Amino acid sequence: MSSQAPEPPAQLPPRGRFLVLEGIDGCGKTTQLRALAAWLPSSGLLPPGAELIITREPGGTALGLALRQLLLDPPAAAAPSPTAELLLYAADRAQHVGRRIGPALAAGHWVLSDRYTGSTAAYQGYGRGLDLGLIAQLEQLATSGLEPDLTLWLDLPLADSLRRRGHRPADRIVAAGESFLARVAAGFAALAEQRRWWRIDATAPEAAVSLACQQALAQLGAGPGELLGDG
Ligand code: TYD
Repeated sequence: MSSQAPEPPAQLPPRGRFLVLEGIDGCGKTTQLRALAAWLPSSGLLPPGAELIITREPGGTALGLALRQLLLDPPAAAAPSPTAELLLYAADRAQHVGRRIGPALAAGHWVLSDRYTGSTAAYQGYGRGLDLGLIAQLEQLATSGLEPDLTLWLDLPLADSLRRRGHRPADRIVAAGESFLARVAAGFAALAEQRRWWRIDATAPEAAVSLACQQALAQLGAGPGELLGDG
């Protein structure tokens, strides 16, 4: 009787990379996200077979899109309280990580997200004044501990953000007023330090900001042991 050799363990694809853009409104995240989405696939950074998934918070899933509407543009009578707002952002994130980001990374794909946990700490924590310890616990619950491999922080002074927005209509969060936004901006600066985000000077011309983003991402070629963390 010949004994059968045990099956070799199935080869799992290496986990993909998780990249996040953070910053106050008007910092150029959306423009830079588009530029990165155009550049990354031909950059040579993505391993063969890996796709680039572009997503955002709130609203990276079907449930998240419904939550985004409730968070940013609710009927006046349905505007969430600060605590309800925090929980809705956490719900959006739990769905996003569980149903979209996590599975994509597990399949070896790369994910580039417009905002992540830093935004909740900045807006609901530093901005609204909700308890940062509680927010950290919720963050753990919503993300199961998933941290970005790299967070790019587009650093723009609040005055520039207000000037850039001009008379464009503000969403419900941005409409909370200038002192709120000043606390959010200071929060982002504090978080960038605590979480070792990669700072990009967002006052620079668009092409220079794009190049700085590309240079930061090129670091990811270094391999998992040498990645910049977020936490
Ligand atoms: P965003 O989509 O970046 O706004 P824009 O329409 O300018 O592209 O973000 C939506 C708003 O949600 C923004 O005002 C910041 C806010 N926000 C929070 O307050 N907390 C969070 O956790 C997240 C992800 C966003």
